[in-house]
Parts: sequence; C-alpha cells; structure tokens
Amino acid sequence: MKVIAMTCSFCGYSAADLAGVQGRQYDPDVTVIRLPCTGRLDTKHVLRAIREGADAVLVVGCLEGNCNYQYGNVEARKRVGQAKELLGQLGIEPERLEMVNLASNQAWLFVEAVEGMRKRLEVIGESPINKVRT
Ligand code: FES
Repeated sequence: MKVIAMTCSFCGYSAADLAGVQGRQYDPDVTVIRLPCTGRLDTKHVLRAIREGADAVLVVGCLEGNCNYQYGNVEARKRVGQAKELLGQLGIEPERLEMVNLASNQAWLFVEAVEGMRKRLEVIGESPINKVRT
C-alpha cells in the first residue's frame, strides 16, 4: 500500500533521512515528499495525493515551538483537520491522513509513524479510489 510522507525540510526530512542512515527498516512503499515547511501544506495536496493513488498521507513536521517558520506546523495541523473533514465528506476514511511532530534526531519516531500508518491500512484496506481503479 502506498503512503506519501510529506515532510518539512528541517525536522521531518532530517528524521526520515536519519532513519535511512541508521539502517532503520520501514515500509518501502513510502514516498517522501519534501516541503519547505509543513506550513506550505494545502488541503489540495492531500486530496491530490489520494486521487493519484496514495492509500494514506503522513504529514511530518517539527515539534510545536520548533518550526523554522514559527507557526507553520500549527497551521499545518489546522489544514490536516480540514483535509480530514473533506475526506470524510468524500466518503474516504479520514484515518488515511495523519500528522506527526518530531525532532530531527527522532528517526525512530518517523519509523514508528510509518509503521502505525501501515498497520492502520491493514485494517481499513486500500483507498476506495484505488478499489474503483482495479
Ligand atoms: Fe518544520 Fe516548519 S520547518 S514544520
């Protein structure tokens, strides 16, 4: 199952990168997309990812209070909430979208978030959009 991890360029991406450097194993079906900051996230990015075949989207940003652009991650969390509502209105499980905040050295937390999403997908299955395609 395909998971898109939208990470900020600072903590999110660094943690994902560090996971690789440390040889931590996580689902190879995760595609990391690097945003300057999660504050750049728009609900349309999430909807497009799902429309284009993602089964889930993980937004990974800095810890609250540590965003390089001050409140980008706070704004991102609001947009994640809005996107979850939109997904629900479209008949798509809002659980397919999650946001996690972490520090750049918390590679294990990135791996845990990916694993958590993979386990969630085992329960809810592939995206209803992908089911229609097959
Ligand atoms: Fe990481 Fe803004 S720079 S969330």
